[in-house]
Amino acid sequence: MKTFARSLVLVGLLIAAVGSFAVAADKPAVAPPNYDESKIPAYTLPDLLVMQDGTKVTDAETWRTKRRPEVLKLFETYMYGRTVAGRSEKMTFEVLESADDALGGKAIRKQVRVKFTGKDDGPGMDLLIYAPKSAASKPAPAFVMLNFQGNHTTTTDPAVRLGMTYDRRTGKAAQADEKTRGAAKSRWPFEMIVERGYAVATAYYGDIDPDFNDFSNGIHPLYYKPGQTHPAPDEWGAIGAWAWGLSRALDCLQSDKLIDGKKVAVVGHSRLGKTSLWAGAQDERFAIVISNDSGCGGAALSRRVIGESVHRINTSFPHWFCDNFKKYNANEGELPLDQHMLVALAAPRPVYVASAEQDKWADPKGEYLSAYHAGVVYRLLGKPALESPDMPAVNQPVMTTVGYHIRTGKHDVTDFDWQRYMDFADKHLGKP
Ligand code: GCU
Repeated sequence: MKTFARSLVLVGLLIAAVGSFAVAADKPAVAPPNYDESKIPAYTLPDLLVMQDGTKVTDAETWRTKRRPEVLKLFETYMYGRTVAGRSEKMTFEVLESADDALGGKAIRKQVRVKFTGKDDGPGMDLLIYAPKSAASKPAPAFVMLNFQGNHTTTTDPAVRLGMTYDRRTGKAAQADEKTRGAAKSRWPFEMIVERGYAVATAYYGDIDPDFNDFSNGIHPLYYKPGQTHPAPDEWGAIGAWAWGLSRALDCLQSDKLIDGKKVAVVGHSRLGKTSLWAGAQDERFAIVISNDSGCGGAALSRRVIGESVHRINTSFPHWFCDNFKKYNANEGELPLDQHMLVALAAPRPVYVASAEQDKWADPKGEYLSAYHAGVVYRLLGKPALESPDMPAVNQPVMTTVGYHIRTGKHDVTDFDWQRYMDFADKHLGKP
């Protein structure tokens, strides 16, 4: 009997050992980041102008009706996840506050609550809008960009409301207080923007979905099927949710008389730059698509595996992409897509990719190459694109229908970036 018990224990131990080995094998450690160009694996990018069944795409019509939907579907299925909902018919916009003497008398300010399902206590976001005074008689073109820490952090304007914010590490909600007012203002040169005739709108990304690996909050649960508690492997993650929020912001701006709804550019920084590219890909009402330092999962080519890798990003931020994307951890070469295809989904609209010299984590060269390789689609659609496979020098923007710059400095949004975005909008939408 004793021997039998002992062998049972041994078998148990053996099973446990095999089990833990299987778990370990299942989750191999993330390789340390590579920063050496000579160590980039050999790769071939998927051809934008070849359908999955091998058919060549040689005209604009085939791009528009066949290949573009196919590429969009690839990103939905394997990367960002399908956006499971559109605009609710019950959505409402409530003006919470407005003033025509904001920013020292230069701007009109508006704070609008976008109630996603029309409910007062339901999910929604607060959109902060500054428009030039001239917008009262002539609707202004606009930039829309989500912020990371709450609307009150984008300016020292004391009238900007304090909302709820969510801790990125714990997911804990807290009421914002005066201490952080203006904390991110260097990224939001509102006066400079309205002085050039543009309106600018922002909302806190946490209003749409708190940036935390938890799918019980934000907008996801609104759209679950009965019994569902987590998005399916091909359904939207957090980036998909934020992109959806940008489209709801656009709905609001298009209903506002101060804004020229056909001239709204979507902008985003970093994880929100990944988001602006995805929002612009799905929602063709955005007139211009701009990503600032968006890196891995944004403009940077995944196959270069330099700086942040697919494995790294999926491990640090398991909630950003759909679960199917995890199949490509340390396996980028098998992806049926790469990020030049995301940039190309903006076509034929103007698209701008920006990098920062010290932002190696985001792989500036990979960001440039995506913009460059998207060019085949722009040319097919009769638009000029980036001509050189080599990056321009720092602080030397290139502006065709595809625009690009790498500026000096670190991962950030600076006045230089904003000035270039306005130059680009002047060029493509006409000076306001
Ligand atoms: C991290 C992450 C990046 C992301 C950035 C940000 O650095 O690895 O992918 O762009 O955060 O959003 O600030």
